[in-house]
Amino acid sequence: MGRKGQEEREKGRERREEGVGGVGKGSVKRREREEGRDGEMLVFIIISSAIGIILYKLVLFLMEWRRDIELCRKIPSIGPAHWFWGHINQFVFYIFQKFTSITDKVEKEREMIKNQGAKIFHTWLGPFHAIIGVLHPDAAKEIMKSTEPKPVFKDTDGYSFMKSWLGMGLLLSHGKKWERNRRLLTPAFHFDVLKPYVQIYNEVIDIFLNKIKMNQDKEKTVEMYDLVTLATLDTMLRCAFSYNGGIQTERYCSKKYTRAVKDDPEQLNRRRLDFLDILLSAKDDEGVGLSDEDIRAEVSTFLLAGHETTASAISWSFYYLGKYHDEQQKIYEEVQNTIDRTDFFTWENVSECRQLSLFVKESLRHTSPAPGFARYITKPFVLDGVEFPAGTTIGFCINHINNNPHIWPDYEVFRPERFLDTEARQRDPFAYVPFSAGSRYQISLVDGFEYEQDPLTVTKAKYGIKLHMEERK
Ligand code: HEM
Ligand SMILES: *[C@@H]1O[C@H](CO)[C@@H](O)[C@H](O)[C@H]1NC(C)=O
Repeated sequence: MGRKGQEEREKGRERREEGVGGVGKGSVKRREREEGRDGEMLVFIIISSAIGIILYKLVLFLMEWRRDIELCRKIPSIGPAHWFWGHINQFVFYIFQKFTSITDKVEKEREMIKNQGAKIFHTWLGPFHAIIGVLHPDAAKEIMKSTEPKPVFKDTDGYSFMKSWLGMGLLLSHGKKWERNRRLLTPAFHFDVLKPYVQIYNEVIDIFLNKIKMNQDKEKTVEMYDLVTLATLDTMLRCAFSYNGGIQTERYCSKKYTRAVKDDPEQLNRRRLDFLDILLSAKDDEGVGLSDEDIRAEVSTFLLAGHETTASAISWSFYYLGKYHDEQQKIYEEVQNTIDRTDFFTWENVSECRQLSLFVKESLRHTSPAPGFARYITKPFVLDGVEFPAGTTIGFCINHINNNPHIWPDYEVFRPERFLDTEARQRDPFAYVPFSAGSRYQISLVDGFEYEQDPLTVTKAKYGIKLHMEERK
């Protein structure tokens, strides 16, 4: 009976389910139709908003393109632009054949500056993208003095590629954040902080000179740039982070930068006030310190900004010492007279070396480690009679400004005496900008040059090293 009842119940359930199913099928279809309509609606919305966005971007893009075309009509360039390549074909193809021909581009630009007296110029990179470059202090001043930001807003902006690497440290940030952090970090460049670093420079240079000596027996030539880069990285890590990890002496060099950047507490030998101390203890007027993210950004920024530029500056100084033996001799004698039979160079001794200072300035003028920088203007600026609308990126060609023949007579001649006060006073302060100028000037002592004289490197050896130049084969 139990079983029969169960069967009945199951049949009943089947019937009920059919019934439900019967009614259900109709409503499911209707629901499907409705859902189908909803789906269509959704697809329609997606497609039309996609089209809308694309059109909007396209219009913006075309407007910017037109703006650039009109702007560029009013500004000189190195020559007529190809409709597709722009000016690229005038130098990139050479680069593929022979990399050194990037100098062709620079030469063409120099010709343009000489012949046309151009203060700004443009270069088309392909059909759509134009870059504007400033060549003369007259055109540079106003924007340099302003607090206009760096171009970091769109992925295609000049500085954006550095964002994930350096974070928004002093180099990339702007506005309130930059102002606050610049104020908090400037004490790191106080005399009292910098003075003890001279001891470190001496230690670093001893290691550097030993390495040159080791190489001297083994090989005929030494690649100075690599050795100098390790020495400046070593200097930065010791001075700013009290990190003493044998950067120059370990055999495997390739991962040193990354290893040094990672926290390695055993190597941290904290005995002086260093940059890291200042970062960790800095507090603004409201008593707020730097966030972890800020600290990471400033560490990366200073490590990069501090060691690459100085490595390049010192390597080029070596180059000019090798090229101009008279200058080398003058500096050699000056240093010999200053160090006074000790082989330790002191803070006081650095300021005694006037000729060395002139030499470094001229070397930085000839080949500036940072070839350029850029600003994104948020309001219109008139440069050399041309109005640039808000939203334009303006580049500054440091090397062209520093070598502008209309400002620097015989600009190709290496002549440190250009920087004697008598001559320097007559020049526009914005004519010499290896460290930028105005509001975003290189962070340093007010005077600017004190600690850049780090090319103690050049001068420390007891009996000196004589540099000479030979063409590489
Ligand atoms: C010969 C050596 C150096 C040269 C030629 C040089 C050049 C420059 C230039 C041209 C700028 C402006 C960049 C721009 O506007 O995009 C700059 C900014 C900066 N440099 Fe240097 N630099 C040198 C050494 C150093 C050193 C040793 C440090 C740190 C220890 C450093 C830290 C910075 C920082 C933090 C900024 C950003 C400053 C700001 O915008 O507030 N630089 N430097
Ligand atoms: C170099 O520095 C040392 C120590 O400060 C000092 O005694 C010496 O007189 C300095 N030399 C010159 C020429 O100033």
